[in-house]
Amino acid sequence: MKIQAFILDLDGVLTNTSEYHFQAWQRIAEEEHIPFGRQENERLRGVSRRRSLEILLGDALPRYSEAQLQAMMDRKNAVYQKMLEQITPDDFLPGASELLDGLRARGLKIAIGSASKNTRLVLDRLGILDAFDGIADGNSVAHSKPAPDIFLHAAALLDTPPASCVVVEDAESGITAALAAKMFAVGIGPQARVGKAHLRYDSTAQLDLEDVLTTFERL
Ligand code: G6P
Ligand code: MG
Repeated sequence: MKIQAFILDLDGVLTNTSEYHFQAWQRIAEEEHIPFGRQENERLRGVSRRRSLEILLGDALPRYSEAQLQAMMDRKNAVYQKMLEQITPDDFLPGASELLDGLRARGLKIAIGSASKNTRLVLDRLGILDAFDGIADGNSVAHSKPAPDIFLHAAALLDTPPASCVVVEDAESGITAALAAKMFAVGIGPQARVGKAHLRYDSTAQLDLEDVLTTFERL
């Protein structure tokens, strides 16, 4: 099998929107008097908006009506979208733009595989809405990460067998999803978070494309 395509997560891999997600959830947690810090936030990384709220509320979840849950998700999203207004084409994480260039130069297909319903908005702010051969986002599938569906959908958009796809992910749920999709998983972040990936780098800037390609071919 040869690598034909890369499926890239967005938040925390190409741009630092994972920090904005955290700050927006923190705002909601404060309003609801629920303790919520960076440690708790680790469990929200990569998971859908609804699942994030369920995790954030924890044992308090049954105390809220569906209408209240919906209102909290809407509030979080409004805060988050306000933050997105700051994003410009200068807001790539270090190495992200070079990664896209390197993939293109090697003739590989590129898709986005993100749980976010704001994916297109963020890509547009970054000026790269047209840079992908496929976009699989929070509107594409019913079951989000850790289910493999989003990555399988991305592979189908690219017309590429899953075994020829590489996923780049910063979330534990995303690595689980990639492995469940039988794809080669590249983790971005600490061992404790993405250590189950086939390969791991501390940051997008550290990702070595040649290293990924040769490691994949050796498997
Ligand atoms: C990404 C982020 C998560 C976020 C999810 C849903 O996976 O990593 O932190 O909760 O998308 O984002 P959305 O923009 O739809 O609320
Ligand atoms: Mg992410």
